[in-house]
Amino acid sequence: MKTVEIKLSQNPYKVLVGEGIFENLSNEISKKKLTQKRFFIIDKNVNLHYAGRIRAAFTELTSGNSIVLEAKESKKSFESLFKIYSKLLKENYGRDSLIIAIGGGIIGDVAGFAAATYMRGIKLIHVPTTLLSSVDSSVGGKTGVNFGDTKNIVGAFYQPELVLIDTSFFKTLSKGEVISGIGEVIKYGFLSDTKFYNYLKKNLHKLQNLDDIVLEKVIMECVKIKGSVVISDEKESGIRKVLNLGHTFAHAIEVDQNYKIKHGHAVIAGISCAMYLSCKLNFITENALNEYFEIINALSSEIKIAEYNFNKLYALMRRDKKNRESKIKFVLIGGVGEIVLDAEANKSDVEYAVKCGLKIFTKR
Ligand SMILES: NC(=O)c1ccc[n+]([C@@H]2O[C@H](COP(=O)([O-])OP(=O)(O)OC[C@H]3O[C@@H](n4cnc5c(N)ncnc54)[C@H](O)[C@@H]3O)[C@@H](O)[C@H]2O)c1
Repeated sequence: MKTVEIKLSQNPYKVLVGEGIFENLSNEISKKKLTQKRFFIIDKNVNLHYAGRIRAAFTELTSGNSIVLEAKESKKSFESLFKIYSKLLKENYGRDSLIIAIGGGIIGDVAGFAAATYMRGIKLIHVPTTLLSSVDSSVGGKTGVNFGDTKNIVGAFYQPELVLIDTSFFKTLSKGEVISGIGEVIKYGFLSDTKFYNYLKKNLHKLQNLDDIVLEKVIMECVKIKGSVVISDEKESGIRKVLNLGHTFAHAIEVDQNYKIKHGHAVIAGISCAMYLSCKLNFITENALNEYFEIINALSSEIKIAEYNFNKLYALMRRDKKNRESKIKFVLIGGVGEIVLDAEANKSDVEYAVKCGLKIFTKR
């Protein structure tokens, strides 16, 4: 088992990474002297595959101290929170309680917000079960739900006590979900340095096949990068914005496509648009654009975007949380390891970037 320490001054915690380590969780909870009053929020598909394993690890688990939720963007909602709060109250969960979230990013975001808000905050542990939630959403403390047609618009920064990543859960992920996770991994490839970027490029196929060695190295690297960014800027007033590379486009694409596209697929499409905009605004050359595109091209056949409406996409981008003074602030790239924050662009340049960036995902 490997460990990454997220050394936040107020809320430091560990991220444990390994294969088959879920069974250590109970022991880790005891080591941290966390409460025995636990509430489990479990992804419906994870429950289908792993109910026996979860119940064997936590023999006290009953329908009274757990809730199984469907992982759909429409369920990242007040309705799900209502169900969680109702059950917590009905079963007399107090301020000394612990929520254990077992699932992908949707479960983690909703469970995290429930933990942040129930009785003004109870303890939280993430057990991410998708590649995407392991490399990204379970670390860093962003929690929240969607509202109306805006993603993640109601939420809180709330750090967990512990994150436990057991890669054996990934065996039941579909190929599409693995590629969705790779979407966020690619983001870290651009945030990192040429060494990790080249490693990723070389091992993309092995990563798609969940090769043990590559998987562990990639998770460790992404979690370390995310941890260091979050330590420098926990509440996203500056440098943390780099984690949004491609996301201004991606969130708008997800809403425009009625969430029929997976988050990480939208991130890959969003990074594609961000690269074209970076080139249009002369942050990167055409040669660099073509080179960076190799990694996108290698995954593009698995991602489909239905017909889209640019004006709707643009209107959605105008609601992005990073915007200031009613101007869209893009996160773009100047090269591997060189992220450009708060970039502004004319509507016509954005339209060009969207048209070029989405072409490979729409032309089939
Ligand atoms: N909080 C953050 O910092 C942050 C960062 C990135 C993304 N997100 C959010 O995360 C969400 C996406 O997360 P995700 O990609 O994990 O998707 P998800 O939670 O929707 O899970 C994807 C699918 O995989 C299934 N699943 C989960 N684990 C499984 C397993 N082990 N085996 C089989 N099926 C399994 C789920 O039931 C679901 O159908 C989005 O809502 C996104 O906005 C949050």
